[in-house]
Amino acid sequence: MLFNFTKKCNLVSLKKHMLRLVEIELPVPFSPHFSNTFSVTCNCKKNAVDKTKFPELRTERLILNQPKNSDLKKITEILNSEVYSKNTVNIPSPYTDKSAEFWLRLSEEGFINENQYVFAIRLKNSEEIIGGIDLGIDKRFNKAELGYWIDQRFWNIGYATESVKAVIDFGFKTLNLKRIFATHFDFNTSSGKVMQNAGMKKEGVLLCHTCKNGEYQNHVIYGIINE
Ligand SMILES: CC(C)(COP(=O)(O)OP(=O)(O)OC[C@H]1O[C@@H](n2cnc3c(N)ncnc32)[C@H](O)[C@@H]1OP(=O)(O)O)[C@@H](O)C(=O)NCCC(=O)NCCS
Repeated sequence: MLFNFTKKCNLVSLKKHMLRLVEIELPVPFSPHFSNTFSVTCNCKKNAVDKTKFPELRTERLILNQPKNSDLKKITEILNSEVYSKNTVNIPSPYTDKSAEFWLRLSEEGFINENQYVFAIRLKNSEEIIGGIDLGIDKRFNKAELGYWIDQRFWNIGYATESVKAVIDFGFKTLNLKRIFATHFDFNTSSGKVMQNAGMKKEGVLLCHTCKNGEYQNHVIYGIINE
């Protein structure tokens, strides 16, 4: 929705507009295109997150909650395998303690800024961390992008699918998002299977969308709409 700033207004209404503008997110970067208009966030329902407490999601076999300092060693142990770096845009190789600390900070800051929810995936019985899943929020257009990984010892028993379904449910029911999407490298067929099994629809292929280790990567994109 665009607010036309050239509209005539008296001083009182101008003051009201200025107060409202404080709450409005300006497009980044601020382009000359918007010189006399301001773009506002979608006119959608407020989210219902308790800002004092990191959310905890429970599924049949898993708990999704905040990653902790005590998880650091395990996270490094799991992700320091080429397979994660090879299949994702952002997981580095080698994966060090510093990389895991960075991931923990992302989770803390994302929650505070309400622009990213980074969950640890844990087994319900032992609370051991066996994966991670995150939802990066684009507040301007009320949509979010999903990313995830699972400890290789637990692949192909449905844990990623179970986690993705829980996070989509959280994104739609608690955050009131309109759209959630995810992409996978075109050769990562099992990730595509996870997206399909979680109810997402294939939307297309993004050619040479990113570059990893000097090679351009095609991404398959999946999405789901909150209707
Ligand atoms: C992708 C990943 C998260 C999947 O986790 P998971 O817990 O094994 O996923 P699930 O068990 O829920 O589902 C895996 C599906 O892929 C299928 N699958 C496994 N290997 C496959 C292959 N080579 N080709 C096609 N499908 C395959 C499984 O059969 C299963 O589908 P099904 O339930 O219909 O039989 C995990 O492999 C991983 O962490 N990979 C490295 C990081 C990564 O790729 N992250 C995603 C980036 S987009």
